[in-house]
Amino acid sequence: MQTLPQRILSLMLIIGISLLLLGGNAAIATAAPIIPNANELAQAVQEIESLDAMRTGLASSLEGRTEAPTKQTMKEVCRPVGMRAMQLSKENGWQVQQIANKYRNPDHKPNNLHDQIALAKFNQEPELVGFWDRETLNKQTGTRYYRRIEVESTCLACHGLKNSRPQFIKDGYPQDLAYDFNVGDLRGMYAVFIPDDIQKAMQDAIK
Ligand code: HEC
Repeated sequence: MQTLPQRILSLMLIIGISLLLLGGNAAIATAAPIIPNANELAQAVQEIESLDAMRTGLASSLEGRTEAPTKQTMKEVCRPVGMRAMQLSKENGWQVQQIANKYRNPDHKPNNLHDQIALAKFNQEPELVGFWDRETLNKQTGTRYYRRIEVESTCLACHGLKNSRPQFIKDGYPQDLAYDFNVGDLRGMYAVFIPDDIQKAMQDAIK
C-alpha cells in the first residue's frame, strides 16, 4: 500500500512526465543530479535522537514514581513513541519505523531483507550506533538512516522476565516476543526512509 506522501509523489511524477512529453518543461530535464539533502539527513538524525530521548524519559519517570503506576501511566511509555514516529512520517514525507526481531507490536517486525541485514549488523557490531544506506523502497529511491535501540534498566519493568510483564501487556499483546531482555541487549532499531527529491525521480523515469 502507498502512503499519502508516496501517492502525492506518484501523482506529481505523472504530471511532470506528461509536461515533459508535451515539451513544456525542459528545464526540469536538465536539473543537476540529486544527492541526498544534507540538511534533511541531519534533521532526521536529530528527530530520532529526540524520539529516543522521549522513550528513555518516559521510562525513567515511571521508575521514579512513589505510588504504584496506574494502568494508564503504564501505557504511556512506548505507545507515544510509535505515535510520534507516525507524526514525523507525515510531517516530513519520510517513513519512520521501529523494527525489532523480538517485537511486541507485530507492526514492528522486520519487513524485508534491508531490515534484516541492518538488525544483523547492529547485532554483530555492538559499538555501532547508526548508519546510512542507499535503498529502493516501494520502487522509490532514497536514503535510509538506521539507529540502534538498546535496553536500559528502566525498560525491564515491561521488557524483562516474561512472567513479570504488566497485565495490560499480557492481555493486549498476545503475540508479544519483547521480553526476557537484559540491560545492554539490542532491543531493535529506528529506520527512517527519506525519499529522493522529485526532480531526481523524474530524471530517472525518463532515462
Ligand atoms: C510501561 C511498560 C514499558 C516500558 C517501561 C518500556 N516499554 Fe517498550 N513497549 C511497551 C509496549 C506496550 C510496547 C508496544 C507499543 C505499541 O503497541 O506500539 C513497547 C514497544 C517497544 C518498542 C517497539 C518495538 C516492539 O517491540 O513493538 C521498542 C523498540 C521498545 N518498546 C523499547 C523500549 C525501551 C528501549 C525501553 C526502555 C527505555 C522500553 N521499551 C520501556 C511497554 C514498555
